[in-house]
Amino acid sequence: MARKRYLLFMVQVHLNFRLAELESLADLHGVDVDFSSYSVDSPFMIVTLENDKQASDWIRRSVLTRAIYEYWGEGNTYESLHKSVQAHPEFEQYKSANERKSFKFEFEKFGGNAKQDISTRVTTIESFQYLELKGPIKMKNPDEVFTVIEEYKAISENIGGEVPEKIYFGRLIQLSDRARGALEKYDLKKRPYKGTTSFEAELSLVSANIAQVKPAHIMYDPFVGTGSFLVAGGHYGALVLGSDIDGRMIRGKGQQTIKANFKYYKESIQFLDVMTMDFTHNALRKDFVIDTILCDPPYGIRESIKVLGAKDPERFAGKEDVEINGQKAYLLRDYIPTKKPYSLDSLLDDLLDYASQRLPINGRLAFWMPTANDENVATIIPLHSNLELKYNCVQDFNKWSRRLLVYINRGHEFNGPNNSGLSRTGNFRDRYFSGFN
Ligand SMILES: C[S@@+](CC[C@H](N)C(=O)[O-])C[C@H]1O[C@@H](n2cnc3c(N)ncnc32)[C@H](O)[C@@H]1O
Repeated sequence: MARKRYLLFMVQVHLNFRLAELESLADLHGVDVDFSSYSVDSPFMIVTLENDKQASDWIRRSVLTRAIYEYWGEGNTYESLHKSVQAHPEFEQYKSANERKSFKFEFEKFGGNAKQDISTRVTTIESFQYLELKGPIKMKNPDEVFTVIEEYKAISENIGGEVPEKIYFGRLIQLSDRARGALEKYDLKKRPYKGTTSFEAELSLVSANIAQVKPAHIMYDPFVGTGSFLVAGGHYGALVLGSDIDGRMIRGKGQQTIKANFKYYKESIQFLDVMTMDFTHNALRKDFVIDTILCDPPYGIRESIKVLGAKDPERFAGKEDVEINGQKAYLLRDYIPTKKPYSLDSLLDDLLDYASQRLPINGRLAFWMPTANDENVATIIPLHSNLELKYNCVQDFNKWSRRLLVYINRGHEFNGPNNSGLSRTGNFRDRYFSGFN
């Protein structure tokens, strides 16, 4: 099938996550993309796709992209841009079939400083006269948006360039989730129920994309806290379910609950439920289908890592038989079970094991893991023989980093390396509180 060229306009942030997001969304929508021209240094990439629908499907959910355009040409000056547009087949094809559609022009720039005045813009628009667009100009909801994108070379980190180095021209196919306002909508500052463990909007949405959370499929967060990942999964249409050992997180504060957040976003239909439960004593029945697991396990910094059980089993012996009014105490609704400390390493082993048993083949597990950036200490990534480690995307802070680890369940035949039981997180909590010294 003949393919057309498209121009992808990305954002230059979270570069360690950008390609993973683009690849995951292409794979999720069955869009075959050749990434060989992808460069981490550039916000632009030209790709060939079969049709506009593919472009739209691919980029609609993206957070680290701005938009995708049907590519009509480029140049180092406006003169060379016009020559390029006139020589492109996309232009001629469009002209014959669509010249009477309503339209407007938009201007975008990257790395530039100066704000263009209206008269310069009008002059630029007029220089495209040869397009012979005969439709009405409509500033609101036009059929087509033609976009001029100027790329400047910034003079320094804070000073943008004055003269564009390159100019692209294209027909807008799809604005990304970011460009349609997802970050503003899910900004934590505006969220009714949040807490110290809430995960910021941008990277939680990116995580949901890399995890390939799917509409009308079940997503589970076993360490749900205030529900940031449920919000992200629900936004992409998943039916979301969460659990947390800390009942206070699940109950919320008065009217402020995870459920109320969904109501606030008008996405209540995506919310299945949340429950108080120790992940390692999981009560979800074994044949309950979970399509995706996305979470932020406890690091032991703002919350402790605990599981059900007695710290000192000898001292606890016999206490399970305690009765109140003739009923076993542990069967009463207000019974608070004893908990014991647990290590992050063991919890991650349990998580990988659980994912390998519960996810469908090709289902994804994605979670965040903290690491100290100590010299001489190699980071060991948890591995399970049924799970393929697909991505390891690092977000660097000064002395520590956290990484989004993404695994695909490949089943028993995969027979990959396994390192369960190994100490990998290097007592992150102690290192954190000692300032990594
Ligand atoms: C980093 S927080 C998750 C924050 C969450 N992403 C949010 O949006 O608020 C980790 C959570 O794991 C919970 N937790 C700790 N041990 C647990 C266990 N054994 N089972 C389930 N949850 C546990 C903590 O109570 C805490 O809420």
